[in-house]
Amino acid sequence: MCGIIGYIGIKPEEILYQGLERLEYRGYDSSGMTIQRDNDFVTYKSIGDVKKIKNQIVFKDEFGIGIAHTRWATHGKININNCHPHFSSNGNIALVHNGIIENYEELKEQLIKKGKKFEGETDSEVIAKLFENKLDINDIRRVKKKIKGSYALAIISKTSNCIYFAKNKSPLYIGIGENLAIIASDPTCFVGYTDNYITLDDNQYGRFSQKEIVIYDKDDKIVSIKPTKLDFKYLYEDRAGYEHYMIKEIYQSRLVLENIIEKYRTFEIKEKLKQIKSFEFDRIYLIGCGTAYHAGLIGQHYMREEFNIDIFSEIASEVKYKNLNIDEKSLCIFISQSGETADTLSALEYCREKGGKIISITNAEHSSISRHADINLPIYAGQEKAVASTKAYFAQCIVLYILTCFLKGKDYITPLYYFKRQIDFGDDNEIKLLSEYLSKYDKVFFIGRGVDYISALEASLKLKEITYIFSTAQPSGELKHGIIALIDENIPVIVIATDEELFSKTLNNSYEIKARGGKLILFTSLNIDNEIKENFSYIIKINKTQKEFMPLQVILQLQKLAYFTAKDRGNDPDMPRNLAKSVTVE
Ligand code: G6P
Repeated sequence: MCGIIGYIGIKPEEILYQGLERLEYRGYDSSGMTIQRDNDFVTYKSIGDVKKIKNQIVFKDEFGIGIAHTRWATHGKININNCHPHFSSNGNIALVHNGIIENYEELKEQLIKKGKKFEGETDSEVIAKLFENKLDINDIRRVKKKIKGSYALAIISKTSNCIYFAKNKSPLYIGIGENLAIIASDPTCFVGYTDNYITLDDNQYGRFSQKEIVIYDKDDKIVSIKPTKLDFKYLYEDRAGYEHYMIKEIYQSRLVLENIIEKYRTFEIKEKLKQIKSFEFDRIYLIGCGTAYHAGLIGQHYMREEFNIDIFSEIASEVKYKNLNIDEKSLCIFISQSGETADTLSALEYCREKGGKIISITNAEHSSISRHADINLPIYAGQEKAVASTKAYFAQCIVLYILTCFLKGKDYITPLYYFKRQIDFGDDNEIKLLSEYLSKYDKVFFIGRGVDYISALEASLKLKEITYIFSTAQPSGELKHGIIALIDENIPVIVIATDEELFSKTLNNSYEIKARGGKLILFTSLNIDNEIKENFSYIIKINKTQKEFMPLQVILQLQKLAYFTAKDRGNDPDMPRNLAKSVTVE
């Protein structure tokens, strides 16, 4: 992953540092910045989140040219040597890179044979060492021909008055303002500075100064530049009094629902839904990664209730290897909060080649996935800053509910209004008591049946992502086919039961755990008698609502459980170790 930014204008340190803060969701293993002034470089590098670099930086009001990078380590350990920017052998050229160079080992070997020395282990340093003394557009062409893989590159030299760039399969945008130009992995970096920006396509490269931008296509022809207006707000979302973004974002779910209700009644969105309905299809695929994949499972659940056709949900990174029967009659729905997840984008390209109709459901209308889709359905969740996705999951499920209703010709506004009134965030004190208890264990299992199993999967993912407690989710009926062998008194098992019809079976499975010493915790919307209650160490009661929304009602409290447990274990819930919010490498 990683985020890159480059800037020409006054106050480069300030603008680049602010860019790093906005890009931090792409990785926070280390950050770095190089500023060119008076034919010399000043470089800052630091391990850990971007705040760590701030104290080192000497902020100046003067003009300068700079590049900066926030890293999510792929090749090479998290250390200063592997921290970007990387430099050519003579130190005259500096470069930042997002992506993966697939042939870097081969290139590195050739360079070592030529006597080049390497400071670190990254694939990115190999690109830097491919440059020699000078930097002009021919050098970019030459290096571009040598490297294979994904890259968004910003490159400067000690003597040039411009920033060079190249892009393939990693996002890259250029913001153009009066006497300034910014290049970045995400146009949110332009907000506050300029409203005009260009989206670069794969295989494009070029250079820009304060006055001029030159972009070449894959055939080395100059591309005519058509800037787009920045039509989204970068709401600098502060924590609004909350201790962390994650808890604030969980509580924003009601607001998100209000936004969706409002937007999904508009002519513009209804036209999009009508277009989807007009497609001829006899199969639906719901595709995503992580939490977005779980939203796809919920969508599959909704759609299977309504349609008598095949509906599949798939993990994006597996799509290309499964010989799926995708053709012109397939409606392929790609779900992604960031709209930049490389596995999802790559699955999208695969389905497009097979002739599938491509729909995306994203939280970033300018993103690669939204742009590559035939129709994009936005989720209007607002910026989600915490790495663990919460309000976006909620919103994705709601949009999938709306899509299902629309295709079926059912009203969705009235049920959503009712749900808005019934949303239940639960009692913090009750959840805190449970989190204190869970935080002392190193394994937690989740079970559920039917749609409750999907909630179990998502709850388990949330818990392991931010608490680092080992966790797995199982369909409750599947326990006795293996997992029950692990049960002992050191494993709390969280039972999710919101479906009346399935309750007695789930209850029996719970007793099988209890009989083997496991501790039981129940999340339920059902009324249960005292005799049953006695089997559970904790019971969290969830307010009942329309059955389609029960998975959302229950997940709100399970998200909070993960949050409070992470806090109890002394973790930063917003920035879990080893993870990043946007995963732009396959
Ligand atoms: C990362 C994030 C997850 C997210 C997944 C898919 O792993 O940490 O929270 O669910 O990517 O991201 P997307 O942006 O495609 O929804």
